[in-house]
Amino acid sequence: MSLNDPNLTDLAAAVVTGGSSGLGEAFIRLLRTLGTAVPVCNLSRRPCAEKTGANFKPPPHHVPCDLADPAALARAAGAVTGWLETVPAGPVLLVNNAGLGAFGRFPGDDPARQLAIIDVNVRAVVDLTGRLLPVLRARGGGILNVASVVAYQPTPYAATYGASKAFLLSWSLALREELRGSGLRVTACCPGTTATGFFDAAGLDRLPGAAMGAEEVARFALRAWARDRPHAVPGLPNRVLTWAGSCLPRTAAARVAGLVLRRRAGPALP
Ligand SMILES: NC(=O)c1ccc[n+]([C@@H]2O[C@H](COP(=O)([O-])OP(=O)(O)OC[C@H]3O[C@@H](n4cnc5c(N)ncnc54)[C@H](OP(=O)(O)O)[C@@H]3O)[C@@H](O)[C@H]2O)c1
Repeated sequence: MSLNDPNLTDLAAAVVTGGSSGLGEAFIRLLRTLGTAVPVCNLSRRPCAEKTGANFKPPPHHVPCDLADPAALARAAGAVTGWLETVPAGPVLLVNNAGLGAFGRFPGDDPARQLAIIDVNVRAVVDLTGRLLPVLRARGGGILNVASVVAYQPTPYAATYGASKAFLLSWSLALREELRGSGLRVTACCPGTTATGFFDAAGLDRLPGAAMGAEEVARFALRAWARDRPHAVPGLPNRVLTWAGSCLPRTAAARVAGLVLRRRAGPALP
């Protein structure tokens, strides 16, 4: 899937959250291969993985930030705005990618993680986007929000995570309408199972279903944004699943989603 789209190759800069691993790292790798290598600023607690930094000179700019901490986020947004002043004029892409999940019956043995999901997956996205929106309006470009297939129906055994992504999808579509005519593109990408450290971090020692590769998903997401898609689901099986989830009555969709996750995760589900 080619990324040779002027909406991507003409980017002057990109800001990616959660670029230290998984999908975020793949976004950065791809953005750095575009045109003259798009300068990228990464917001995460850890820096980008070594290979991303080593492969590209200069390495992505890193603003260390715990996105769950509102004061740290405010400082980081200031640092990002300052960094954007140092890169050439032109469109900027904000990729709201950082996120975490938790699997099992609510609240599980780590209730604080349930709140961290809301802080990072919801609060930080709204806060950071609001702070960077004036720059985006002035420079052009847009926003790519990384939601999930779980956004399309309630998701038992990942209740908080599913609801956080449902928020993100709904918010993204609404923001897109508000920004109609501004020249800014807003897309929600909704991946299914992707081979990253996400499930491990969420306490699930087995992937729930066949996984797509991180680079394949990131490539799909960038293309969807470049083509101004409101929301996009990578992979045909995932598209069938989300379509079915959207068609069923919500209570039935919740039941089916719970059964599917239980079956796919098996004994790995706490
Ligand atoms: N993998 C999947 O199957 C899948 C499917 C659908 C959607 N997604 C979504 O894709 C996005 C990326 O996840 P991934 O699969 O790439 O997982 P991942 O490898 O675990 O990466 C998560 C990223 O989020 C960052 N992050 C988490 N908490 C943070 C915090 N408090 N402050 C700053 N950064 C934080 C991490 O950076 P630090 O730890 O360095 O801070 C890391 O770079 C998430 O939004 C996830 O919900 C994933």
